[in-house]
Amino acid sequence: MFVENEWKIIENDFNKDRHMIAESVFSIGNGHMGQRANFEEAYSGKTLQGNYIGGVFFPDKTRVGWWKNGYPDYFAKVINAPTWIGIHTWVNGNLLDLAAVKISSFERILDMKQGILSKKCNVEMPDGTQICISSERFVSMVDVEIGAIKYSLTAKNKGCNITLKSFIQSKVFNQDSNYNECFWESISGRSNKNEIVAVDKTKKTVFDVPQFTIATAIRNKYSQKVATTNEIEELQLSETANLSLQEGETFTLEKYAAQVSSMNYKDEELEQTALQRVTAAEAKGFDSLLAEHANKWAEKWKQSDIVISGDVKAQQGIRFNIFQLQQTYTGDDSRLNIGPKGFTGEKYGGVTYWDTEAFCFPFYLSTSPEAVSRNLLLYRYKQLPRAIKNGEKLGFTKGAALYPMVTMTGDECHNEWEITFEEIHRNGAIAHAIYDYVTYTGDKAYLVDYGLEVLIGISRFWSQRVILSPIKRKYMILGVTGPNEYENNVSNNWYTNYFAQWCLKYTLETISWAKRVANEQYQELAKRISFEELEISRWSDIAQNMYLPTDEKFGIILQQDGYLDKEPLTVANLPADQRPINQHWSWDRILRSPYIKQADVVQGLYVFESDFQEETIKKNFDFYEARCVHESSLSPCIHSVVASKIGNEEKAYELYLRTARLDLDDYNKEAHEGLHITSMSGSWLAIVKGFAGMRVAQNSISFNPYIPKGWKSYSFSINYRNAVLTMTVSSKKIEISLSNGFISNLRVFDEEYQMKAGEKLLIDIKKKK
Ligand code: BGC
Repeated sequence: MFVENEWKIIENDFNKDRHMIAESVFSIGNGHMGQRANFEEAYSGKTLQGNYIGGVFFPDKTRVGWWKNGYPDYFAKVINAPTWIGIHTWVNGNLLDLAAVKISSFERILDMKQGILSKKCNVEMPDGTQICISSERFVSMVDVEIGAIKYSLTAKNKGCNITLKSFIQSKVFNQDSNYNECFWESISGRSNKNEIVAVDKTKKTVFDVPQFTIATAIRNKYSQKVATTNEIEELQLSETANLSLQEGETFTLEKYAAQVSSMNYKDEELEQTALQRVTAAEAKGFDSLLAEHANKWAEKWKQSDIVISGDVKAQQGIRFNIFQLQQTYTGDDSRLNIGPKGFTGEKYGGVTYWDTEAFCFPFYLSTSPEAVSRNLLLYRYKQLPRAIKNGEKLGFTKGAALYPMVTMTGDECHNEWEITFEEIHRNGAIAHAIYDYVTYTGDKAYLVDYGLEVLIGISRFWSQRVILSPIKRKYMILGVTGPNEYENNVSNNWYTNYFAQWCLKYTLETISWAKRVANEQYQELAKRISFEELEISRWSDIAQNMYLPTDEKFGIILQQDGYLDKEPLTVANLPADQRPINQHWSWDRILRSPYIKQADVVQGLYVFESDFQEETIKKNFDFYEARCVHESSLSPCIHSVVASKIGNEEKAYELYLRTARLDLDDYNKEAHEGLHITSMSGSWLAIVKGFAGMRVAQNSISFNPYIPKGWKSYSFSINYRNAVLTMTVSSKKIEISLSNGFISNLRVFDEEYQMKAGEKLLIDIKKKK
């Protein structure tokens, strides 16, 4: 569907049936706001309108068939916000509707290097007038409340009269609204020459969450003097220009927009602020705004690009993933996070999942300044009181924190009991991100300032959630859902139990470290959260006596009690026409089957690799890979990293490909709903942790690189403790250079090195045995 190109996504013919996929793929954003690639023009075909503002959500009242105590009352959704892109055109009085006119040529381009969406198309109106439309659009990475469009029309074969209506649309809906209601109400609107501004507020609800107000302002700048009229109709605030074009003549409209929200300003300041911002943007001009935006992108690419030579498809795939991750989260505001679909669709509500910590965190940690990943941690820190409330709602006490599976504010929003109540392993990923951050950055102060409080809340939860089995005399965790959501209410999911044990151990270690090096601060914390020394002895007992299911006969870790009682089938037994099983089988059949939705035991081996012998990892990988259908986008990347670790290079590459071009090639047939943003970090993981074998331990960083067959070379950079390290791997050599800082403990294969800024290392590739 898309042309292969290293820096661009290109579509060069228009297909109505695939338009919604393109709307997702060509999405643009700046971490604070983002939008699907909806047309500026009228479009009566199938479309999903989407313009989203980070952090602005609506608590949609829960709708379930059978209410269970403990369910969340609402589902927080980042909602479709009033939109500013609309430019409708009439040619000699006929509406230019891109779904209805004849399109003789069409080209849509997403320039990932500069973050610009553009389109050029030639259309023929019913009266035979041919018009060339060309547009460029971006949302600024520098001035994150500003967006701009340059929109030109050329009369191709004869002169014509043009009416051009540029507007803000305040009446917008979410397709996934639970009760088909509009989430917005209009507060005020003005459309005068040079002052077109709408103020809209999310509707009042009974829930204890903020209401949001946003102001949207636009300014139109025309390439020639035109008479304009302004009007407001059905919450559409517009300015209309009438003009005539001679044959061959071009007319250009520059449209500037500002969208500001009550997250950052007082309600009463919003309208004026939006007007000031849009006036300033117009004064700066389209080209200057674009130039500074493109410079910011150049900076981002410098830190995070992966260059692959010898495989354009792979190059385009990884750049697309990095581009989308960078435009979803920029990390300068700890109230924001990474929704599984980012700003590209409604599914998953734009809310935060364990995906952030378990999959995205390492990407931002290595490719952005330290403050970015720290903000991701602070997001959870600030939500700790609500995580404790979630725990209380389910019957836990004394500060036990259960972080939500799905959230905006810290309140749980997922309302399927088998996930909300049972998929508790998410607490582990949140604790582990603290460990990852501290290990990677060396910023141990974070632990006493914030991290330990979260760790204690989480450990309190585990210590109340376990039961001591009177028969086995071991601690067990019953009634859970592991990462494999194709089974629920299982007992002793190994991944969950192992994680609980690790959390307790890590919290205990951190407490004893804090007592040694920051006792005063530790004592203050202990007092504030009524932490008792008795808790320490219980946690040690649980950590020492946690039940971890294994099977002697097969010599493997058991995904959960009884897993081996299932039919002994593997994915090889599944007919191709029954896959994906979630689209062909009843839920009941899926639950009974041995098939695994996504990495589960393998997810645990990925996180805790250093606790296991390579032989154990290999045995378990082979067993579980054969049974895993990878029906979550989050799965192949983890199996790919582990396959690299055990030297299964072919498998690693096959699974990498499934992640990297998932949306571009629409493997899962769902790209029209939005992109799989959180799994995009998986492609980065598969390259940097998988092919290049990057590992970070206390005060050391190591690599164990190889190159996939068919690639000539690949190259990436990481920030590591103020050093910027660039590694290029080709079939025979590895080149490492340091452009900043100093690394005292770098290990490549089995050798140790020290490096200073400006130095280069050339190392021969070693073949794995
Ligand atoms: C996966 C979860 C994931 C969620 C959002 C589900 O399909 O099973 O692990 O958190 O999607 O990405």
